[in-house]
Amino acid sequence: MVSVGVNCLGRSFANPVVLASGPAGFGLELKPFFLRRPLGALTTKTITREPRSGNPPPRLVDAPAGALNSIGLANPGLEAFLADVLPEIRELSTVRIVSFAASDPSEAEVMAGRLGEASGVDLLEVNLSCPNVEGRPPACERGTAWEMVRAASDATSVPLLAKLAPDVSDVVEIAEGVLEAGASGLTLINAVRGLRINRDTGRPALARRWGGLSGAAILPVALAKVFQVREAFPEVPIVGTGGVTELGSLLEMLMAGADLVGLGLGVMADPEVPWKLAQELEAWLSRRDIDDCSEIIGCAHRGGLGVGETR
Ligand code: FUM
Repeated sequence: MVSVGVNCLGRSFANPVVLASGPAGFGLELKPFFLRRPLGALTTKTITREPRSGNPPPRLVDAPAGALNSIGLANPGLEAFLADVLPEIRELSTVRIVSFAASDPSEAEVMAGRLGEASGVDLLEVNLSCPNVEGRPPACERGTAWEMVRAASDATSVPLLAKLAPDVSDVVEIAEGVLEAGASGLTLINAVRGLRINRDTGRPALARRWGGLSGAAILPVALAKVFQVREAFPEVPIVGTGGVTELGSLLEMLMAGADLVGLGLGVMADPEVPWKLAQELEAWLSRRDIDDCSEIIGCAHRGGLGVGETR
């Protein structure tokens, strides 16, 4: 019997597959799939203190092996989330990760405090890296990221993931800062800043010009960041997110050092893909006579499959 369960962040995950924040919204449309088979975790669309309608259209455009989005954190805001959405999410039997973003440390404190005391919130993820709002994402500067995470982690006892950006020269430096500030784990990575031009108009294709590239195109970038951070922090829980769309890329992300793997854009093409990949992972481990998923997590740092100790 193969074990695909993962224990980290003080929680038990049925398998390492996680719905990443964004494409699945609040996951409620996927309820029939949750009822049928277990999934590691669901991450909500990022919540902000006030409701946001998001960026003007067009805010989604395709890209080679991916898509560029400029949603702009559209969400109903903290109070509506707590009153109307969270009661429904509570019904889903999975680990529930609530993603939130704040414009400054005092807002991060309020958000983490309110969300952390609500029933049904198993983990928090502070989104420090949305590429589609005004200003430089907090994850691009160690001091700013540190202040946000310190304010949030001081306000709650719920374990806090910090979602970092790929568009930095030294992700390990930022990771070190947010861990020092109190993050319990890291989500790596957010979408990569990109641009497309509309060839008919000759202007940027997205209304806000820049967007966040996601999909298979960013897999090698995400793998590199996960590998680097895992090497620097062997014991820190990592949710590897970026470019995972099929079993092969899921395996690579685990082998690079992710304890959990977030699926984003792939869910828009096939909403059942997380559940399919969880099953395919189990079958793959079984075919290879690997009893426990933990044997492959981070194996790229231990000389490869079947070599060295398990985590
Ligand atoms: O535009 C957006 O809502 C994207 C958010 C993110 O990538 O964090």
